Amino acid sequence: MRFLTKKIEELSSDTLICFVWEDYKQTSDLFNYLNKLSQGELIKQIETYKIFKGEFLETYKLAIDENTKVLLTGLGKKDKLTRQRFSQIVANAARIAKNMTKTNSIGIELVENKSECNNIIKNFTKEDSAKMALCSLRIGLYEFDKYLSDKKQKIETIEILENNLTKEIEHSAEIGAYTSFAMKFTKDLVNEQAQIATPEYIANVACQIAKEHKLEAKIYDKNQIKDLNMNAFLAVSQGSIHEPKFVHLTYKPKCTPRKKIALVGKGITFDAGGMNIKPATSMLTMKDDMTGAASVLGIIQAIAKLESDIELHVVCALCENMTSGSAYKQGDILTAMNGKTIEIDNTDAEGRITLADALSYCDKLNVDEVIDIATLTGAVIVSLGSNITGVMGNNQEQIDKFIETSKKSAENTWQMPILDELKDNLKSNIADMKNTGGRQAGTSTAAWFLSNFTKSNAWLHLDIAGTAYLDKSNKETLQGPTGVMIRTLINYLLS
Ligand code: BES
Ligand code: MN
Ligand code: ZN
Repeated sequence: MRFLTKKIEELSSDTLICFVWEDYKQTSDLFNYLNKLSQGELIKQIETYKIFKGEFLETYKLAIDENTKVLLTGLGKKDKLTRQRFSQIVANAARIAKNMTKTNSIGIELVENKSECNNIIKNFTKEDSAKMALCSLRIGLYEFDKYLSDKKQKIETIEILENNLTKEIEHSAEIGAYTSFAMKFTKDLVNEQAQIATPEYIANVACQIAKEHKLEAKIYDKNQIKDLNMNAFLAVSQGSIHEPKFVHLTYKPKCTPRKKIALVGKGITFDAGGMNIKPATSMLTMKDDMTGAASVLGIIQAIAKLESDIELHVVCALCENMTSGSAYKQGDILTAMNGKTIEIDNTDAEGRITLADALSYCDKLNVDEVIDIATLTGAVIVSLGSNITGVMGNNQEQIDKFIETSKKSAENTWQMPILDELKDNLKSNIADMKNTGGRQAGTSTAAWFLSNFTKSNAWLHLDIAGTAYLDKSNKETLQGPTGVMIRTLINYLLS
């Protein structure tokens, strides 16, 4: 897929997404241009036939000549248009445009929203909308057809159409294009079946990425993981015929880095639950338990392409959590890389055990911030549902900045507490802690557990168990992987 920015008169797309406000008389440059091209046909549809009102998510198809189709797309009322709604509108329009006959290229115009209140969720500029439009278009166009006999229609080109193309808009569009690539990359890897996307396979993908983007790569195999004393991670992996891999990629800018950040992604390539095996319905989507790893591998490519001035480390402990004669068991006591001991209360709480060693590993990297992203707890689905990501950490300033960035990135986050009282939930008589407590405060308890394995004073934890993978489509994303938090994380790293 190619991304271009063009002036309106230079447009060459066959299908054009043209926005109309519901309560706003002023029409856009693209609307005026297409209206003229169609001898006033666009205005007629709205004013004479009153066929199209410009309501939120409303669309209307119109062919204006043999090679040009217009998709009138409603923005709704000005004071209701949030960044998230804009993203839903664009994703929805993209899906409809793609399914129109003979669509090969889509043109889209930029929108700005200056509502009276100074609310960042509602206010956005054309630069913002360039970034959002490219991400949301690609969200709408995304389909995984690798295993379908009937391949889907492919869109070759996306054009941003704007008469006043500034350097800032061009740059923002570039960020949007690489961010949308990172999301597509991640979704493809999550969609891949677990018998193919094994630890070794993902480690090979990481190797390829390192080659292509000239990153430093350290890939540790089972024996090297042993040498690193990652016995907690190793224990989780031992029930699988697939050997674990530990991946560490580093992007270094040409200049002195503005800051150094490590991203840790949970990388369970399949979570059967271990000896505490999951019921069939809970196991159904557990190939997605490596979404964190897939996300950070997507993000580092965007950061490298954008030649960011930060130093970025990406760390993933990759393994499968299986039930077998060699699997780890309840009652086992594991010693993590940092020397702390863990009594296994439930083998299905495996993510935190692998992350314990991955976070300990990051202590040696000398970074300013550590952020982990993990499909960690079913409890976060109960608390926040499938559209809000749980955010926790040990540095309120970092948490506030992250949540603010998520709002600007059209993503939902909510902070959950990590209080010291939670340690009672995990109290063990024979080890430093157990890996699970009771049913109470499962998301916070898991985060408290993780906090024991990092020395960083700016550690942030994202629980994406509810948001990584949709069982049911929402207005923006269809059923399946979402690429959640990739937009926010890239914007956070760049800011
Ligand atoms: N990978 C799961 C969490 C999960 C659940 C992700 C649903 C996506 C959808 C994790 O490893 C897990 O099994 N957690 C257990 C922990 C429990 C045993 C304390 C859970 O949440 O049930
Ligand atoms: Mn599990
Ligand atoms: Zn898991």
